[in-house]
Amino acid sequence: MKCNKVVLDRSEYEIHIGVGLLDHVSHKLKEAGFKNKTVIITNPKVKSLYGENLKASLESAGFKTALFEIPDGEEYKSLRWAGSLYQKLNRFQAERMTPILALGGGVIGDLAGFVAATYMRGVPLIQIPTTLLAQVDSSIGGKVAVNHGQLKNIIGTFYQPKLVLSDISTLRTLPVDELKNGIAEIIKYAIITDEDFLRLLMKNMQLIKSLDLELLEEIIYRCAGFKSRIVEEDEKDIGMRNILNFGHTFGHAFETVSNFQMPHGKAVAVGMVAATLVAQRFILVPESVVDEVKTIVVKAGLQVSIPGLDIKKIMDVMEYDKKKAGGKIRFVLPKGIGEVFITDAVDKTVIKQVLEELYEKTPDMRYSGRE
Ligand SMILES: NC(=O)c1ccc[n+]([C@@H]2O[C@H](COP(=O)([O-])OP(=O)(O)OC[C@H]3O[C@@H](n4cnc5c(N)ncnc54)[C@H](O)[C@@H]3O)[C@@H](O)[C@H]2O)c1
Ligand SMILES: [Zn+2]
Repeated sequence: MKCNKVVLDRSEYEIHIGVGLLDHVSHKLKEAGFKNKTVIITNPKVKSLYGENLKASLESAGFKTALFEIPDGEEYKSLRWAGSLYQKLNRFQAERMTPILALGGGVIGDLAGFVAATYMRGVPLIQIPTTLLAQVDSSIGGKVAVNHGQLKNIIGTFYQPKLVLSDISTLRTLPVDELKNGIAEIIKYAIITDEDFLRLLMKNMQLIKSLDLELLEEIIYRCAGFKSRIVEEDEKDIGMRNILNFGHTFGHAFETVSNFQMPHGKAVAVGMVAATLVAQRFILVPESVVDEVKTIVVKAGLQVSIPGLDIKKIMDVMEYDKKKAGGKIRFVLPKGIGEVFITDAVDKTVIKQVLEELYEKTPDMRYSGRE
């Protein structure tokens, strides 16, 4: 087992990463001073894979445990479903010291985290992430939120967990596309913070994809460490935490234009290639950096082009996001591998050129050229 620590102004917590950690949750809860009751929030799929066993083991360790399930999907990360959880917590007579265990991917982590942050003005939150994306990203850093209407993560707050328990053996049951979503974020960390880590990923991508758990433990540990250090610097996301958006400015536009048919990891992967191509034009980042970014994306089985996506629509989404952000589009661009900078001075024509370069030529859907 490996352990990271996040140290913030007003709180600190540990991130434990290892094989079989689910068997030790009750022990870890007792160690952290919890007793009496616990609540697991999960979805039906994760419940049948891991939730029922977890409930049984908590009960046999003496915790009175309730398991609440939310249907599986991003659309259930909503106020309505938060409301249903408040009611269930009430009926269970959850107390201010009753920990909420968020067992699942980022959807469950964000929703259960939001509920933990708001129920009784805050009850303890334990993140037990079961997707690769949640283990390297969403379970760490305290951003909790629900969607509202079409607006993603629009209602939320910062609420740090008391503990993060990443049992990497849960990754064995994860569908391959979900695994790739996590791998895209792992690649992101390498490009923004650590050239040596990118070398490690280049060399071992096959082992990662085939779920070598020893290697994954090391990789998740390092990513959790990267994210922890960034969150420690800028907990409330007013400065350098922004670098975590590398690949996401473009990526978000790709997801939107595909009507969210394009998985997040795929969108972010092409988004990272796009941002690197922008950097090449903007500050003359060498071709070798572009090649490295493309190579790692391809090795991961992710894509480096945007077939079928309408460039005009992508530009429109970026324009809309720009208005929402006060008139500036913020890009996180690489200076090289392991170092990025933030700028809002990228010209629209550069963005268009890059999108055209990324576009696999399917003639009827090409951008018409109108501004
Ligand atoms: N709070 C943050 O800082 C932050 C950061 C990034 C993303 N997010 C949020 O995270 C969410 C995406 O998270 P995600 O990618 O984990 O998706 P997800 O939570 O939807 O999980 C993906 C799928 O995998 C299933 N699943 C989960 N664990 C499994 C397992 N071990 N075996 C088999 N199937 C399993 C889920 O049931 C679901 O169908 C989005 O809502 C996003 O906004 C939050
Ligand atoms: Zn992401």
